[in-house]
Amino acid sequence: MGKDVIIACDFASREATLQFLDRFTGKKPFIKIGMELYYAEGPQIVRDLKARGHKIFLDLKLHDIPNTVKKAMAVLSRLDVDMTNLHAAGTRAMMEAALEGLTRPDGTRPLLIAVTQLTSTSPEAMEKDLLIEKPMEQVVMHYAKTAAASGLDGVVCSPLEAEAVHGACGKGFLTVTPGVRFADGDKGDQVRVMTPAQAKAIGSDYIVVGRPITAASDPVAAYERCLSEFVG
Ligand code: C5P
Repeated sequence: MGKDVIIACDFASREATLQFLDRFTGKKPFIKIGMELYYAEGPQIVRDLKARGHKIFLDLKLHDIPNTVKKAMAVLSRLDVDMTNLHAAGTRAMMEAALEGLTRPDGTRPLLIAVTQLTSTSPEAMEKDLLIEKPMEQVVMHYAKTAAASGLDGVVCSPLEAEAVHGACGKGFLTVTPGVRFADGDKGDQVRVMTPAQAKAIGSDYIVVGRPITAASDPVAAYERCLSEFVG
């Protein structure tokens, strides 16, 4: 898989998701399904969207003991998703177990991406709630390196961190980056943002774009614009 735009389908129901995707006649965007939609509709929504021809990033951010994550990953692998994720905070043992669980009998598996520190966690919360006293950037890079050493394919990170992650973990280690906005668009609640063109220049491998596409008056045109700025 090469550089691509992943649409964050942050919808509450199957109906709203299909209504949105029906606008993309003839096109099959790579889509991200998150906790809200998955927990509302269950695994069938993944099977149905796969059957419609979409690539799927299943964003469930697993974090549990290695054995439980391994078994859960085997279930997600059988759903034939293309990419899924976990929290690097679950440790190397959990990440290695996850990879084992994801690997199908024929040796293939979905891409596995780690979440480092959630962007919603402030340095103050890290220190007070988690007793992590190192600087945020150092923590994020350490988690990324541990994920790479565990055999994972990449991390979710800010486009602003993509270059440093590639520097620390190699060019082939994927950076999947949310926080993307058009230069003339609304930032919403995202603070540190980049345009698709900037994300491309800095070396992001995949951009995850939600509201700039889902809330656009013409979502298909907004998606095409993202693709042409980021990929083409
Ligand atoms: O609508 P917007 O483009 O902000 O959506 C970005 C998507 O990426 C959402 O699904 C959000 O949950 C996800 N995300 C993020 N920041 C992170 C990790 C995930 O915005 N650090």
